[in-house]
Amino acid sequence: MRIYLRGDLGSGKTTLIRGLLRALGVKDTVKSPSYPLVELYVVSRLNLYHFDFYRFLDAHEFDDAGLADYFHGEGVCLVEWPNGQAMPFLHPTLSSVWLIQAQERNQRERHLAQRESDV
Ligand SMILES: Nc1ncnc2c1ncn2[C@@H]1O[C@H](COP(=O)(O)OP(=O)(O)OP(=O)(O)O)[C@@H](O)[C@H]1O
Ligand SMILES: [Mg+2]
Repeated sequence: MRIYLRGDLGSGKTTLIRGLLRALGVKDTVKSPSYPLVELYVVSRLNLYHFDFYRFLDAHEFDDAGLADYFHGEGVCLVEWPNGQAMPFLHPTLSSVWLIQAQERNQRERHLAQRESDV
């Protein structure tokens, strides 16, 4: 399964993934992956892979790092910045989660509710 999170810088993508993993019982620190390119979280028999492709611009790098395997496996791929040049061939299997930049909590929730009708 692939879940793509789209939204401006600082719009809350990592925070949403952290909340999801916490709800699943993950106790580890959840931070944005940089090096290595992917962070793995294991919940029972389920593998969840967290990617952030903000600085990832080269499709060859994607292939060289062997990342395609994650996207065709059994696990759940949680992807921030899925719209980079390395990613166009990997379509989400679940509706993308849409987030937008908002400073204030109520405003953020209102925009999320509006965007649900778009996906
Ligand atoms: N729903 C929310 N309400 C209030 N603050 C939030 C909410 N979601 C995120 N934040 C705060 O906004 C900041 C940025 O959040 P986060 O790192 O999750 O954004 P991001 O979309 O992953 O950014 P990037 O594009 O840089 O990866 C953090 O300080 C976080 O605590
Ligand atoms: Mg992030």
